[in-house]
Amino acid sequence: MAEPIIVTLDGPAGVGKTTLAKRVAQELGVAYLDTGGMFRATAHALGQDGLQLSNEELANELEKLRFSLQGSGADTVLLCNNRPVGDEVRTEAVSMLASTMATKPIVREFQKQAQQALGADTSLVAEGRDMGTVIFPQAPHKFFLDARPEERAQRRLRQYQAMGKDADLAELTQSIRARDEQDRNRTVAPLKPADDAHIIDTSELDKEQVFQEIIGSIQGNVNG
Ligand code: C5P
Repeated sequence: MAEPIIVTLDGPAGVGKTTLAKRVAQELGVAYLDTGGMFRATAHALGQDGLQLSNEELANELEKLRFSLQGSGADTVLLCNNRPVGDEVRTEAVSMLASTMATKPIVREFQKQAQQALGADTSLVAEGRDMGTVIFPQAPHKFFLDARPEERAQRRLRQYQAMGKDADLAELTQSIRARDEQDRNRTVAPLKPADDAHIIDTSELDKEQVFQEIIGSIQGNVNG
């Protein structure tokens, strides 16, 4: 079997990674891996009480979680213990809990092994915070998306509205800033571009332009 191809897409909260990862995966005919969804599902399964557990207790709980992927392209489904990870993990409370749990080395080590196992035999568009730096450093195509916090909060607001949920723009901006701070400053695997990542500031670009830039760069690399 040919070596799986990995495309990494990293960046802060609300930058549009999931939408783009789906589209790029669809275009390439491969699965997409929402690693934020994996951290969220973990936070959702463990709950606030998870923060009080000792490392040994935490390891026992993490052992019970099995992640897998079904399908490919935009229809890829992330499963946790054979159940699709759904909108129950898309709340601000789960976002913040996921970000706090993600500072714990034992949680990151567990995620790293689970994510690398998924990429070992499947071509992927992998989106997250440390895909290009830590999880798939050998990936041939790496992208880092960024945008101003206010712009990202607006995008998140539109997402919540599309799900029929209420949200407040000022609170979203504050929550995004707090997560940025925590994600960029943690000691293990902080959010930052890989040295060889293609950095795209999406503040002034629409999704189509960002998509074209990513696909153009991948095809340029392949053909060039
Ligand atoms: O991308 P998303 O907002 O769904 O991620 C939720 C949280 O999970 C992030 O704020 C981040 O703390 C954590 N995360 C991470 N590493 C990843 C993906 C997500 O630390 N690769």
